[in-house]
Amino acid sequence: MKKVLIISLLLICQVFFVFANEPDSAYVFAYTSGKQNNTAGLHYAWSIDKQNWHTIGPEWRFLASDFGTWGSQKKMIDPFLFEDETGLKHCIWTLNNEVGQFAHAASDDLYNWKRQSYPEVTEEGNVLDLEVSFDGAGKKYLITWISEKQGQKKLFRTTTVDFKNYSETKETTKSDRLNLRSTIVLDGEQQSGVVVKVSWELIDEIIKHYEWSLFHNQERADNTSLDAERFKDLQTVKAAISFQPENSKRISDKLVGIFFEDINYAADGGLYAELVQNRGFEYALSDRKNSDSTWNSSKSWSIEGFGASFSIDTTEPVHINNKHFAVLKVEKTGSGLANEGFDGIPVKTGEKYNFSVFAKSVGDNKGRLLVQLIDENKNVIAQSKTGTINGKWKKYETVLEANAASEKAKIVVIPQTTGEVALDMISLFPQNTFKGRKNGLRADLAQTIADIHPKFVRFPGGCVAHGDGLANMYRWSRTVGPLEARVPQRNIWNYHQTAGLGYFEYFQFCEDINAEPVPVLAAGVPCQNSSTCGHGQQGGIPMCDMDEYIQEVLDLIEWANGDKNTKWGKVRADAGHPEPFHLKYIGIGNEDLITDIFEERFTMIFNAVKEKHPEITVIGTVGPFYMGTDYEEGWELATKLEVPMVDEHYYQPPGWFIHNQDFYDRYDRSKSKVYLGEYAAHLPGRPNNIETALSEALYMTSLERNGDVVEMTSYAPLLAKEGNTQWTPDLIYFNNNEVKPTVGYYVQKLFGQNAGETYIPGTIQLSDKRENISKRVAMSVVQDAESKDIIIKLVNLLPAEVNAGIDLSALNIAGSEAVLSVLEGSPDDKMAAPKVGSLQVSDQFNYQLPAYSFSVIRLKTIN
Ligand code: AHR
Repeated sequence: MKKVLIISLLLICQVFFVFANEPDSAYVFAYTSGKQNNTAGLHYAWSIDKQNWHTIGPEWRFLASDFGTWGSQKKMIDPFLFEDETGLKHCIWTLNNEVGQFAHAASDDLYNWKRQSYPEVTEEGNVLDLEVSFDGAGKKYLITWISEKQGQKKLFRTTTVDFKNYSETKETTKSDRLNLRSTIVLDGEQQSGVVVKVSWELIDEIIKHYEWSLFHNQERADNTSLDAERFKDLQTVKAAISFQPENSKRISDKLVGIFFEDINYAADGGLYAELVQNRGFEYALSDRKNSDSTWNSSKSWSIEGFGASFSIDTTEPVHINNKHFAVLKVEKTGSGLANEGFDGIPVKTGEKYNFSVFAKSVGDNKGRLLVQLIDENKNVIAQSKTGTINGKWKKYETVLEANAASEKAKIVVIPQTTGEVALDMISLFPQNTFKGRKNGLRADLAQTIADIHPKFVRFPGGCVAHGDGLANMYRWSRTVGPLEARVPQRNIWNYHQTAGLGYFEYFQFCEDINAEPVPVLAAGVPCQNSSTCGHGQQGGIPMCDMDEYIQEVLDLIEWANGDKNTKWGKVRADAGHPEPFHLKYIGIGNEDLITDIFEERFTMIFNAVKEKHPEITVIGTVGPFYMGTDYEEGWELATKLEVPMVDEHYYQPPGWFIHNQDFYDRYDRSKSKVYLGEYAAHLPGRPNNIETALSEALYMTSLERNGDVVEMTSYAPLLAKEGNTQWTPDLIYFNNNEVKPTVGYYVQKLFGQNAGETYIPGTIQLSDKRENISKRVAMSVVQDAESKDIIIKLVNLLPAEVNAGIDLSALNIAGSEAVLSVLEGSPDDKMAAPKVGSLQVSDQFNYQLPAYSFSVIRLKTIN
């Protein structure tokens, strides 16, 4: 929108500064430099005489290919630009040298491109040197190309009326070819492309779009390293602050929540309190795409002592979903099977641990299992025995109490007889889990999350939700029920997911922290960047399987909310939760590419849920950015279908957050509500520091102001285990023994703990009116419905103090003492934490906002 404003301004200026001699039409030359391994995308140059060419950019990317995985694909080779008789521009291009597909995209203006499609036109050979023309009489587009097969080049053709359906591919002759490609020297380099005649106005618009993009990127790059110079003379800024409660408005009561994704070992080895790694012997080479030969069924397991060995078997497993188990062969008693946990097993003195195992003896040996925890120096720090093992799979349980602590203990299972014993699902949990739940969560980590006071939890992803190909989509029903019957699988982030932390545990956690569950289910398409859907482009659940998939979505609602006598309600009740979970929201899709494949499946799922469960709020998706094709097309689709809410994602530099505080002020209130499901400020090196945290805080004040259209927000990602991170920055780092909240975490916590359902408008009048200054001082004021407290949040991203004269007279403040929380530090400070104290207040009082700070003033009111 801002873009539109700036362009409109530029256009208005043009009225006054119009060049006298502008031509009506000119030529645009469309080409690609082929640089960056053919990912440079579509570039333009213009000319009025086809002799003198002027590059725009130069080599600015006006269109990029979305096909395939990042890194190896996303190529655009030999683009061909064509304008049809309606004025619509089409671009088709070769995707690579192998596939029998090409790409098509259309645009009205040559810089806003609609969704891409990749029709498959041949099963044999590639698609090179494409051309397209329009047959007005037949109302058909004719597409021709050269295909290379076994060293032989042949010409082929197909026709289409809509770029969706194509006629059968046929071999053709040169007479169908246009040979419209030209070679032009641009900035000293020869480029091959297509010249198209367009209006001068259009070229002018493209140039302005390019100029706006530069300006926008400059704003994005704005950061505090410039502060010393640009603010060198800045003294204390004065601010007169007043409030207009008469203009108060209701805002969302669910604005701050969390997004939990199993990334960075957030689940197994993280929030999920299981201490044994690979307890089910289900790790597989494929979890890591065969890149790690140690990542197999034996991962994390070894023999402790002498005279024993173990192998992995799959005959007659405990459960078909849990095929692998260990067979431990003991020739000399005393030795056993050891597990090193996730970087060691942390053990605390005096704490109790629940051990369980499925076991059976393979011969006629019958005996008990001695279970020991041993520390780094091989001291036994806890031990206990199971009952006697017999020839049938059975679950055995015992409790170990630690008499000493260890940061890196091992667990050893020692059969008390010689012979062979089969073992599976070898598990150890601290009894002290969050809220003492069985199969529960790590208490310290869960408490740190709970302290944010999140109003909802989105789970299980992110990319984990839609998965790495069709087979890897997260299927909720495979993650409930007995642990041994759940379906473990490859985690898209290149490790293993036991599903021990499954839908039941997610829902229970939500209930335990009084947060709404927001499960996200794939929209029938996996991650477009996964490499497993035919050449790596977006695939979709085959139409013949969609009914079954839709039923699975509906089943989730029955599982969560149905009576305990319904099919799925009973599964929930059997797991120990006869009462419904009161599910209200379901996310469908995760920042998917908005393609025809997506639209068709999303629409089917959305309509089915709407019809059967109108009480459920479906949250749609509008791509991974705050603008661009997926954002535009996602919003268009959501508006068409009247999707109640859409999930927006953007990871951007602090400069973006500073310069886009008006992002939601311009949103149409009559359309879908917004769930800002993933966002974070990213600096080079990806730290989580005062600069990123304060730019997020600044932006969050605008989210509160727009809490009538923005329903929910969640920073991403939430958790990261030190030494096992695939993504930074994250909100909370941890290792086996410590939890390390970040500066960004404290911002979320201050907003979460100081939320309100009424927004009270306020005004800040600064003594220094420069835009650079005013964009760095922000405020939002809310009132909490329960306590009636009024909370003033003030952000100062300037290197100087702001001396605020605050006029409370319009608010019904009780008493003269407020609670003040202040987070401050230098921009690169990663360790800052809020200080909480009291503040003397009166109808008119002064408060000094420290340089680079976030202050929260919580005031009691007269009830
Ligand atoms: O938050 C990390 C990842 O970022 C999510 O999995 C995905 O949705 C986004 O690209």
